[in-house]
Amino acid sequence: MRETFLPYCRPDTGTPEADAVEECIRNGWLTTGPKVREFEQAFAAAAGVKHAVAVNSCTAALHIGLLAAGVGKGDDVVMPSLTFVAGAQCTLEVGARPVFCDVDPQTLTAGVEEFERAITPQTRAIIAMPYAGRPHDAQALAAMCERRGIIFIEDAAHAAGMLDRGTWAGTHSRLAAYSFYATKNLCTAEGGMLLTNDDTVMERVRVLSLHGMDKDAWKRYTQQGSWRYEVREPGFKYNMPDLAAAMGLVQLQRLDAMQARRNEIASRYLEAFADVPGIECQALPEREGDVHSWCMFVIQIDGETFGISRDAAIDELRNLNIGTSVHYIPTHHFSAYRAFSAPLEATERVASRILSLPLYTTMSDADVRDVIDAVLECNKQADGLLASKAS
Ligand SMILES: Cc1ncc(COP(=O)(O)O)c(C=O)c1O
Repeated sequence: MRETFLPYCRPDTGTPEADAVEECIRNGWLTTGPKVREFEQAFAAAAGVKHAVAVNSCTAALHIGLLAAGVGKGDDVVMPSLTFVAGAQCTLEVGARPVFCDVDPQTLTAGVEEFERAITPQTRAIIAMPYAGRPHDAQALAAMCERRGIIFIEDAAHAAGMLDRGTWAGTHSRLAAYSFYATKNLCTAEGGMLLTNDDTVMERVRVLSLHGMDKDAWKRYTQQGSWRYEVREPGFKYNMPDLAAAMGLVQLQRLDAMQARRNEIASRYLEAFADVPGIECQALPEREGDVHSWCMFVIQIDGETFGISRDAAIDELRNLNIGTSVHYIPTHHFSAYRAFSAPLEATERVASRILSLPLYTTMSDADVRDVIDAVLECNKQADGLLASKAS
């Protein structure tokens, strides 16, 4: 058993990020300025999507993205319940109603079939989420939305590093909202990016992200700037500071290398757990050009076969000095969203089985081995328990 606790997650930031942030601190431009513009341009170029608007979270991007897409009162927005609450929360914030759909129990992702089952006559948009960074077939979802005249939004919180048939999230949807929260593949502490090919969405989002003003500080306080500005509509305070963008630029440059390490760790887990009775790994993407971002590595534990339940395994792994997490408690299980409950058979089934194991780039090979050994140890102990019960 390892001697120190291995946390579930630790961001991969070091000297290059510290130097970039220090440069902002020394040059005195801290809030939205040249680094944000540079980050937006670099992100849009890397993604091959026309516009990128940097904001202070993925949640902010979803909120103003929904507004910019014209979603509001009287509209339904369909999304999986097995995701973070941000999508449902933003849907309510714009005056629309969240409608929860099921997920495929093997991929843990909602695809065309799951969305089609939940779409109502009032559905104006869907918020699809490539779970853990497993591509969700954006082209098929886009075709379904086109056919039905509804708006395709992607919650791309897990998608930095992911390729969906060779394309980034945001290529086929009206807009995609990325997260740069500390646990994500590309992190700026807090932050988000809205990607869109739609000029109108981009213009409205940019204005809404800063109080509805037509000029940010960079445009007002530099020598070329002007003190005059207009407020076109009441907006929000969602702008990204240069400090975060400076970090984001470094992380973007490191993204391919960080992804390669994630792939290595995921391969080792997949190999180690392939034949363990009672453990099921998330089904791998199969289409040409698909790349899983491995933002999370989620297994499902079948308590009957594994010998101990998911909840017991979490406690046991903690005793063995391994931190884990659960993604997610289904949104409709929370008291704030219970009113939007729907019969979601697969979601209910997987909710008590899913377990996220540590997978981050600063894990050493020994850390990876420790996680595998600890999971196998749980299984061994369970075997012992079962044997003693049987005798
Ligand atoms: C699927 C999903 N959507 C949205 C969010 C919200 O991201 P942020 O914290 O950047 O607002 C998260 C963050 O954990 C997430 O996992």
